[in-house]
Amino acid sequence: MLPDDLADAAVPPSAYFDTAAAAPPVPEAVDAAVAYLRRTAVEGPYLPSLRREVYERIEQVRAAVAGFLHAQPEEIAFTRNGTESISLVARGIRWQPGDEVIVPDTEMLSNVAIWRMLEAEVGIRVVPFAAGADGMLDPERLGAAITPRTRLITFVALSNVTGATQPVAEICRIAAAAGVLTHVNAAQAIGMLPLGFSSWQADFVSACSRKGLRGIEGSGILAVRRHLVPDLVPALAGWWNATQEDGSIRLPDTARRFEAGSPNVPAILALGAAVEVAERLGIDTIHARVVELTGAAVRGIRSIPGAEVYGPSDENRLSIIPFNVAGVDPRELTDHLESRGIIIEAGHFMATPILTSYGISSMARASVHYFNTIDEIDRLVAEITAFAGKESA
Ligand SMILES: Cc1ncc(COP(=O)(O)O)c(C=O)c1O
Repeated sequence: MLPDDLADAAVPPSAYFDTAAAAPPVPEAVDAAVAYLRRTAVEGPYLPSLRREVYERIEQVRAAVAGFLHAQPEEIAFTRNGTESISLVARGIRWQPGDEVIVPDTEMLSNVAIWRMLEAEVGIRVVPFAAGADGMLDPERLGAAITPRTRLITFVALSNVTGATQPVAEICRIAAAAGVLTHVNAAQAIGMLPLGFSSWQADFVSACSRKGLRGIEGSGILAVRRHLVPDLVPALAGWWNATQEDGSIRLPDTARRFEAGSPNVPAILALGAAVEVAERLGIDTIHARVVELTGAAVRGIRSIPGAEVYGPSDENRLSIIPFNVAGVDPRELTDHLESRGIIIEAGHFMATPILTSYGISSMARASVHYFNTIDEIDRLVAEITAFAGKESA
């Protein structure tokens, strides 16, 4: 038998089940950012040839991201994160007092706070909408919640709390038929689910690159339907997006309108590399693998005595598995698992209404991605079972 300290050292590197927070970036993404930064350290960032090369590459990344989302390059803006993308939409629309925005109770804080602020500032009305007990949005019921004052429905494609994958295309179709705009929060969905900006008929899609896409932190995406761009007010303006002609400020009628000041070059280059990797693996292949691993993890966790898995039925769930085990504090479980080389998360995930509906104040959350293995899932389940056994002994 190994002494304890050696036994701990023998634990293999982390089995990482927290892509829903942020995935380990693909090495190609890290390399792209680091190579650029190293070059600027050696050559200086403002060699005219390097700037030209970098700006050309940024446009190539824009085209690649557009291809990945099934959008046009002119519809893609680079942002700092998913939250910024959502706020750019919210601050971009010219609101009238009394305009209604439907915000389901599936949403996390980044898709709630800005709408609440606009409610106080400009008098829009945030209209709550209850998901089913399983976390699913019912498109027909959503359609029935539309009134003549509804301007926008904003909702998450893949919930960070329940793992519910929403019927995005159907919701967008019903909204479009009623002349209502749609904002799809794809922060969790990108890199996991095939996205179809144009086929969904969504008006806005926001996303970040540090989760399913495996880019680096500090990088987000906003897709805006081309015909809407000229009517939107960019929250930020300055060099890069604005020009000055005859004393007046002009802004592009492409999504670059939403990018002001020096671009976050390392993060954009990393995003380009991450998209290339996802394209090479194939989003359908990634999706199928995540479906398989999600199923295995759900079955494993459900088999633990006293475990309760929250969220939708198996066919509507992807990657994210929220759960509790009777008598086990989810934070203590998370800390214990970390000591065993297994990473999950615990908390309320900034989505209190959902937790309230389950009658809990916190939970554990495991999220899988294609790089996880069945062996890792078996380890996860075995470690939770052992810990829960000790806690209840
Ligand atoms: C559903 C959802 N929306 C929005 C965000 C915000 O993204 P970011 O952290 O890039 O601002 C997150 C990530 O934490 C998320 O899970």
